[in-house]
Amino acid sequence: MPRQLFVTTALPYANGNFHIGHIMEYIQADIWVRFQRMQDHQVNFVCADDTHGAPIMIAAEKAGKTPQQFVADIAAGRKPYLDGFHISFDNWHSTDAPENHALARQIYCDLRDIPESEGGSLIARKTIAQFFDPAKNMFLPDRFIQGQCPKCHAKNQYGDNCEVCGAVYAPTDLIDPVSVLSGVRPELKSSEHFFFKLSDPRCVEFLQKWTQDGRLQPEVANKVKEWFSVRTNPDGSTSEGLGDWDISRDAPYFGIEIPDAPGKYFYVWLDAPVGYLASLKNLLAKRGQDYTAYMAQPDLEQYHFIGKDIVTFHTLFWPAMLHFSGRKAPDKIFVHGFLTVNNGEKMSKSRGTGLDPLKYLGLGMNPEWLRYYLAAKLSSRNEDIDFNADDFMARVNSDLIGKFVNIASRAAGFLTKRFEGKLTHNFGASGAALLQEVREAEPMLSDLYEHREFAKAMREIMLLADKVNAYVDQNKPWELAKDAANNEALHQVCSTLINCFTVLARYLAPVLPRMAQAVEALTGSKLQNWGQSNIDVAAIQPYTHLMQRVAPEQLDALFEPSEKSGSDPNLTIPGGEDIAPTISIDDFAKIDLRIAKIVQCEAVEGSVKLLRLTLDVGEGRMRNVFSGIASMYKPEDLVGQLTVLVANLAPRKMKFGVSEGMVLAASHADEKAEPGIYILNPWSGAQPGMRIH
Ligand code: MSP
Ligand code: ZN
Repeated sequence: MPRQLFVTTALPYANGNFHIGHIMEYIQADIWVRFQRMQDHQVNFVCADDTHGAPIMIAAEKAGKTPQQFVADIAAGRKPYLDGFHISFDNWHSTDAPENHALARQIYCDLRDIPESEGGSLIARKTIAQFFDPAKNMFLPDRFIQGQCPKCHAKNQYGDNCEVCGAVYAPTDLIDPVSVLSGVRPELKSSEHFFFKLSDPRCVEFLQKWTQDGRLQPEVANKVKEWFSVRTNPDGSTSEGLGDWDISRDAPYFGIEIPDAPGKYFYVWLDAPVGYLASLKNLLAKRGQDYTAYMAQPDLEQYHFIGKDIVTFHTLFWPAMLHFSGRKAPDKIFVHGFLTVNNGEKMSKSRGTGLDPLKYLGLGMNPEWLRYYLAAKLSSRNEDIDFNADDFMARVNSDLIGKFVNIASRAAGFLTKRFEGKLTHNFGASGAALLQEVREAEPMLSDLYEHREFAKAMREIMLLADKVNAYVDQNKPWELAKDAANNEALHQVCSTLINCFTVLARYLAPVLPRMAQAVEALTGSKLQNWGQSNIDVAAIQPYTHLMQRVAPEQLDALFEPSEKSGSDPNLTIPGGEDIAPTISIDDFAKIDLRIAKIVQCEAVEGSVKLLRLTLDVGEGRMRNVFSGIASMYKPEDLVGQLTVLVANLAPRKMKFGVSEGMVLAASHADEKAEPGIYILNPWSGAQPGMRIH
């Protein structure tokens, strides 16, 4: 029976682009999800932007945008990261979407309206004194108050929790608080707040069981246990047990208004995890599936991948909200540690980062290198891991390419040249034994993937690769190839190697999905299904490079301060010319690019290179343009086509007449070495005169 899995990663704050810590979390979850899908389990893997809260409201104000516009702009930038690193979310949504407004309000009402017969409401109102910035005339959000952690006395900690010791507290607990907005010392001011009664014996009893029944990682369960015993109060005293949770904020606030309480909004952390459900609901609606029925499935498993800084929200508030509103609490919370870069400080959400994921992709670095590297470091525990440039290069070049990819390159050439690409099914005794050993690792590897022991899985796979390479060294196919009398042995060895390689590629498929596709194309085997254990390749296609090595220059460029990025003279785009120095958007805006229709086209007498184009750029007149594309196109090929014109280029007098602009075309830097020039052709729907932005 396929399992029904509902999997999420934490919802990133919509106040900035992803940093490498986010990408690590997505890669970890994506590997697990891909593994589950390969087992034919049914997974819904969703995420969303966490859009609410005062910090985003203030950031939007600074940017001169409405909060809605601000978060929409952030959302618009998500795709290149997710596609770029092959993250296979089924849906990306927003906590400001209607589904989330409705669900958050419903969950709140369910908690508020618990009948007396079942213990009564879990929502309480209390008037509390809260920090108010007299200069800014607003209550201060936790993140805009800094001071010393009341527990470990670390300096410059935010008002909600300590990034050093992980303590969670009220902003009024901070020692020597200051307003980050104005720099003044905040004042205490009274206001009525709504609380979720976490201290209620029902909640305590439920959570004590829920957090200690083995569903959490042992180190997480131990940490959580402490929160049931000691708590620091606003006045510095300590008390036993869980405190009530303040879930409201006063206007002005970007969030969801609390039902029947004008001017009061849900604290962002109340509606943020509800966003998991809202994203799922949105996904199911798009597919015409029923959300209520889906959630009611008794065997539905719900998992959240999160970082260690947000454990309280996911192991106390969230399960209690779900349980006492009549919903099912999550099955497991998978907590990971933090990623640091080159032994750097932890990348805080609000303080810088070391490795820009888009820059990584922009440098042409293979996303699967990073996926492999992180897999080789990730375990089921929530320990921190470090991205180290030298270690990265060693793992990718020596292990992934040196041990794994090279197996294919060592065998494929002989098969193609000597055996028309066909493999034998007779592997010889030692080949058959080796292949069997590789195949038999499957249950062990399944178990490691299931339990998120990716580092161990990678190690086991590399140990198998070592054995395969030892077999190569024993059998020396390059020696066998010297004498036609050894043809059969050569055929057996190379066939064994390709089969071993293909099985290993399947083991790596959750980590290296694009590599798996390339190996599918090479070997004609299906690698997307874990259950298909006895891969037996019949023939291969001619081998093309499966993966490049990491070049040290790429890592140098990656960590070079960003002003210079894109213009690194050491870095060449394969087969082409260097990227030109960075320009501003204003520089780009100077170039007026327009869609042009080629109304007429003719050869130019006396020129072998040029064609004369008559172009319609929607100006109510035609333009005459000469273009050096005669070697590639016949005039009749081009008539009626759309292309792109630099419309504000100064007219140029040529031997054959005046050229009023330039048509865009692609070619290699060295046209002689790599001939060919290709004119640009927009997707259908574009109209003459449209500007290109
Ligand atoms: N918006 C909240 C989560 C709400 S979930 C209902 C939040 N957002 S965040 O953008 O700050 O972090 C999102 C995720 O990224 C969290 O799981 C966090 O732990 C993780 N990481 C942030 N920095 C990280 C590293 N340096 N390394 C690994 N993960 C990190 O918290
Ligand atoms: Zn602390």
